[in-house]
Amino acid sequence: MSLPIAATDVAVMWDHLYWFLVWLSVFFFVLVVGTMIYFVIKYRHQKKQKPVFITGNHTLEVIWSIVPLLLVLIVFVWGYVVYRKMIHAPPNSLEVRVIGKQWLWQFQYEDGKTTVNELFVPVNQPVKLIMSSEDVIHSFFVPDFRVKQDVVPGMYTSIWFEPTVPGRHQIFCAEYCGTSHSQMLADLYVLSEGDWAQWKAGKKLNLKTSRISMSNVPSPTLAEQGKKLMLQKGCVACHSDDGSPRPGPTYKNLFNSKVELANGQVVIADENYLRESIETPQAKLVKGFGPLMPTFRGIVSEEEINAIIAYIKSLK
Ligand code: CUA
Repeated sequence: MSLPIAATDVAVMWDHLYWFLVWLSVFFFVLVVGTMIYFVIKYRHQKKQKPVFITGNHTLEVIWSIVPLLLVLIVFVWGYVVYRKMIHAPPNSLEVRVIGKQWLWQFQYEDGKTTVNELFVPVNQPVKLIMSSEDVIHSFFVPDFRVKQDVVPGMYTSIWFEPTVPGRHQIFCAEYCGTSHSQMLADLYVLSEGDWAQWKAGKKLNLKTSRISMSNVPSPTLAEQGKKLMLQKGCVACHSDDGSPRPGPTYKNLFNSKVELANGQVVIADENYLRESIETPQAKLVKGFGPLMPTFRGIVSEEEINAIIAYIKSLK
């Protein structure tokens, strides 16, 4: 009985809960089945023996109700505490965009780098993955971190982790997504501080298994790529990035702000809101603006939407 190494603090917390549940189950299995076998033998049919007539036992009934109730409450509270920690990414998290496609994983970093089937992150720093799919439902699974999350077309899902063990960790796709689902593998490299600095500077890393060869050519950051795209796609004709009025809402200070809609509803301009407003602009029409914007579904790729949102995020 062994699990993959637990390479984050949250993974260690999950393992404690997991083993508590396993041993609790073993304890009750032995208790119930052991007692049953003992009684079967002790009270087996014997000649000239008349069984006692038993009507009930209140003490016993109270014990076997209260004790399991307390135990499942412990499991609930414990699970809730770990779950809360698992779903709330710390605000200082490094953000990486993940795109699942048949059949590979693509990663987009804030500084503009892109990798395929190899994800590089620093050790002892929280990392938040903002994930989407180009085609069907995939599932991003890192057993060593005990995190698994569906990657769904048309929306963003997210997970975070803070790796504590440098080295290579396996990434799987855990949702059947077609012929090569089982080949949809990727490597997650947790880099030491020194290696991370090298990676950021675009130097080649001395990792045995990695196929990546970095170049020193400075690439525009993800946000800069987004800014350029907005010029190319004509977004700037209707949207300003400095608050000046145009036919559409401005991008300035938009991210994570409260937006009042034409129907009176108030929504938070998070990643999913921005994506929806690009793909289905009429779905959440902002108060005071007409339904002028055409859909950009199919016109901008997943990579481009990520870059555009990164740019809007940078305008805070
Ligand atoms: Cu992607 Cu299975």
